[in-house]
This record gives sequence, C-alpha cells and structure tokens, in this order.
Amino acid sequence: MAFTQSWIDELLAKNDIVSVVSGYVSLKPKGRRLWGLCPIHGEKTASFSVSPDKQMFYCFGCHAGGTAIQFIMQMERLTFPEAVRFLAERAGMTVPEDRDDEQYQQERARKERLYQACNLAARFYMENLIGANGGPAREYFARRNIGSSAVKRFGLGYAPEGWDNLKNHLTAQGFTEDELLDAGLLVRNPNSGRIYDAYRNRVIFPIIGVNGRVIGFGARVMNQEDKPKYINTGDTPIYNKRRNLYGLNLQKSTRLSSLIMVEGYTDVIGMYNAGIENVVASLGTALTEEQARLLTRYVSSVFIAYDGDAAGQNATLRGLDILQKEGLDVRVIVFPDNLDPDEYCRKYGKEGIDALIDAAISLNSFKLICLKRGFDLSKDHDREKYAMDACRMIARMEPVQQEACIAQVSKETGLSVASLEAQIGRDQKRETVSEQNARRRAGASSGRDALKDVNSARNIAEGMIVSCMARSAEAVKYVRENQILDSVRNTVYKDFGLKLAASEDPEKEIHSIVGTMEEGPASLISSLLNKDTQYGSPVQMIDDCVERIRKIERDELIDSLGRQLAAPGLSPENRKDILMRIQELNRQKNANN
Ligand code: GTP
Ligand code: MN
Repeated sequence: MAFTQSWIDELLAKNDIVSVVSGYVSLKPKGRRLWGLCPIHGEKTASFSVSPDKQMFYCFGCHAGGTAIQFIMQMERLTFPEAVRFLAERAGMTVPEDRDDEQYQQERARKERLYQACNLAARFYMENLIGANGGPAREYFARRNIGSSAVKRFGLGYAPEGWDNLKNHLTAQGFTEDELLDAGLLVRNPNSGRIYDAYRNRVIFPIIGVNGRVIGFGARVMNQEDKPKYINTGDTPIYNKRRNLYGLNLQKSTRLSSLIMVEGYTDVIGMYNAGIENVVASLGTALTEEQARLLTRYVSSVFIAYDGDAAGQNATLRGLDILQKEGLDVRVIVFPDNLDPDEYCRKYGKEGIDALIDAAISLNSFKLICLKRGFDLSKDHDREKYAMDACRMIARMEPVQQEACIAQVSKETGLSVASLEAQIGRDQKRETVSEQNARRRAGASSGRDALKDVNSARNIAEGMIVSCMARSAEAVKYVRENQILDSVRNTVYKDFGLKLAASEDPEKEIHSIVGTMEEGPASLISSLLNKDTQYGSPVQMIDDCVERIRKIERDELIDSLGRQLAAPGLSPENRKDILMRIQELNRQKNANN
C-alpha cells in the first residue's frame, strides 16, 4: 500500500535521524554535520555524514544516502514498507493499514496461529524424542554422534510412527485441520482426500526463522532404504525456503566476522559438534538474492563448504555469484574425497576443518578449477580451448581480480601472460558491444536503467538540472514554465524534478520527497544533492545543460541515421533523404561548435 505523504512526514518527524543513526554508528559533530564510520560499506576514516538540519544522511565513500527510512532499509536489509513499519514501531505509531485494513488483521492473526502450531509441533517432536517411544531416534542420533547438547541447541525431535499422532495432539488443542495443512504439518492425499501427519517415523530438524520462531521442518529417515531421505516443509504463509537459512537464528550479528555456508542440516550440526558455530545451511535450493541480503546483515565474508560434486554445478555457481553481487567476499572450501562437511569433521576434527578453511580459495579460482575439469590439458587442442574459455570468464571479472587468474591460467596452459591479456582485451571489447546492444534493445525507460550509467554525459547534464532545482526556487519556476523536464530521460531525476515542480516550497520538501523513494533512487538523489559543485546562476546553468542534451541528442540522431544508411535494401530515394538529413545535422553541429 502507498503511505500518504503526510503520514510519512509524521513518521520522519518522530524518528529523528541523529537518534536513529546513533543506534548503529557513533557520530561526532563537525561543521553543520555529524560524522562517523560508514556502517553500510565499512571503512576506517569517517566519510559518513548526517545532517540534522536536512534530516538526511549521506556517505561520501559509498554514496548511499537518504532519510532515516533508507538508512534502516540498508542497515536492516528491509524493503521500503518493512522499514516504514520498523520505524513506526520504534516511534510507537500505528501503520494506517494496520488500523483500517481488516484483511491485513485477519492475515496476521492467521499467521500467528500457524506460528503457534509449529511451535507446539516442535515441542511435541522433542517430547517424543526423549519419551518412551523415542528409542529408535535416540539410537539414530547416537550413531551420528549427535548428543544432547546438539539436540538442545537445534531443538531436534522425533515424529513417531503412525498417521495421526500430531494431528490428534494439535486438534485436541483447538487447531483446525485447515490450519495444520496450511502450516505444512498435515498433508492431504489427493486421491483419497485423507488428511494425515506430514512426517512419520523420521527424525526432525526444526527450521527457525531469524525472529526466533519455528517456521518449518526437515524430516529425515533413519535408515538407508526408506525414501525420500528428507521431507522438507514446502512454502507456507510463514515459511519460504528462499528467504531463510538453517541455523541463522543462532548467530549473533555483532561478533561474527564470517559465516560458513553448508548444504545440509547435519552439516551444520556436525560442524557444531566439532566446535565450529558460525555455520548456516541453504535449504535445498541454489542460493537466492533474498538469502544473500540476509547474510549481509550479519557478515561481509562467506565461506562456501558444499559437497565436492555439488559445488561445481552451474546452479550453485550462479548462487555464489549472487553472494558476490551483494558485496560479500566469497571463498570456497574444497572438500577432498567427496566428503561432506559433516563427514569431514567426524574424520578430521576441528584442526582438519580449520586447515581447510585456511586453504579456501577465491570464487574466481574455484570457477577456473571447475572449468578446467572439462578439459584434458595434456592435449594441445584442449589447452587452447580451455584458455579461450578462461579468458572469456576473466574478461567479466573486476580488473583487480584478473591478475591472479591470468597467472593461474598461464601456469596451467603454458601460454604467456601477454597473449592471455591480449585475448582478454578482445573479449572485453566484444562484451561491451553486446552489452550495449542489449541495452539498446531493452530501451532506456525502466527504473533500473536510471541507476546505470549515471556518469554518462547525458545523465550528468540531467542530474545538474534537477540539482539546480533543488537549490533554487527560481530554477524550479524556470523549469516549470519552459517544460524543461521534457528533456530529462532518466526516470529517477525526472520523477524527482516533477515532484519539486509540483511542490509549494521545494526546498523544504526535498526531505519528504526523498523519504518516499526506494533505496537506489534515494541514494542517487542524495549523491546529487551532496556534490560540491560550484554553481553560477541556476537558470544559466539549466540553459547550458539543456543545450548539452540537445547536442547529445543530435549526435545520437546522426549515429542512428548512419546505421540506417548501412542497412541493406535501402531505396535510392531514402538513401538520398537520409544523407541530406545527416549533412544538415552536421552543418548545425559545426556552426555551433
Ligand atoms: P545426511 O545424509 O543426513 O548427512 O544429510 P546430508 O546433509 O549429507 O544430505 P545431502 O547432502 O544429501 O543433502 C543436503 C540437503 O539437501 C539436506 O539437508 C536436505 O535439505 C536436502 N535433501 C537431501 N535429500 C533430500 C531428499 O530426498 N528430498 C528433499 N526434498 N531434500 C533433500
Ligand atoms: Mn551428510
């Protein structure tokens, strides 16, 4: 739902940015601002600033900026509406929709019932594990060296044999079958319509959200023969496997330097038994963006500890790329002999694992290793093909990451660093041309595109126009009267400009306009407003920018006409027509310069 501007204003008024930020960063006053170490990008010298007058923050290092809402979005990794809720709670305000929206209230109440059902189910399973019928499960855990301390820490349990133990237990406490079906605790046989316990004669691994509440379960058979090995809760109103990580609830964000990511519940537990606690498991999917963001709330560095085979698969590699894209430093622990982390811990203990962690390699080296597996480097042809593929991969890396990888490939193939670099240079060129084509095809209208290429000449000119508007009421009036925003293509700038143009007192309202923006656009605008550019007359400045945009458009038109000219099958008349237009445009261009 859209929050009204006046309600957001009230929210921001009640959440003074200095006090909000001070919960995360210690600030020292200097000049008209307060300064501290940026908690968003992490740093050693203070480039993070808060302006109490404007009620905005801005980091001169990473260019994040905005109001208290965007600050909370970044720090708590929340979406806009979630951050608004967070601050509303902080200030003791009621979110309008909560007050008015009956449907929302009902959904909340329903979810609350599902949380309670899952909590009682976990307790039921645990009581069964320690109870009179828990023998088989206790023996199973004992065989795996899972002792009482792990049982307690992870809340392990046992779903006894039989079709309706849990069903009877929870319906007796007033839960309806529908609620229990919704929570994933019961299932319905689609043919017979019969409803029964989802997990039977299995050991139970409760899945607990970062809010500390039980949201789902993994249930494992206790012998080799039964299939499937695991049954996991599917998506429910309170559980989504793409948004959660097993074991994350046990981590304390303040003291962690890194997390180790494994595949299975038993890997997390096995590592804990070996004395390693900073371990979480993905829940049977390739890593998702949501999970990556969740991780960034806790750490800046992640070790991947997947089973040997699984880690090199394409879906997994894509998952690891997602982690890197979220800014996490990703290293890969390679397990020998096809052991998984749990098995490796049992065999080699903490020292063994510590040694592997020390030997962890960068994601890029790991990708090269995976790529190499497909080739026999004793053959000339394979060596060449591997080098080509590797160069293509390296061309996409950040420059600082390239050097080590080039050295690695040179060593493996015997090709010189110089020839590999030449190949990479070529691949990079090809890449940028095809990227440009893709962008052209996609058009430049979506919001995401507005955040790209902010340093292009056109974006700089457009940014300058709205930045002048933000500084001067006279400029706003001038832009409005001359419809100058028609020339602004960047959707973020345009949107901001239109709001300023529509406002009674633009300078005063900047803060509340930025307050309603998403994280990316808010940072873009904040960075614009914090640029220390010397301004002459704003109106003069705007005229210059409009003139620059005209020139850019003219050059684009000349380019595009040139491409039409090169197209096959052009009729002589059209050809002549296009040529004349190009000549005319070039004449204007030369006359102006
Ligand atoms: P153990 O055999 O108990 O040590 O488990 P593991 O963690 O070594 O299992 P594995 O590496 O085979 O699987 C890793 C994760 O994938 C598990 O924790 C489950 O989440 C999931 N998984 C494994 N087997 C199945 C299955 O049969 N069905 C489903 N749905 N998920 C599975
Ligand atoms: Mn295992």
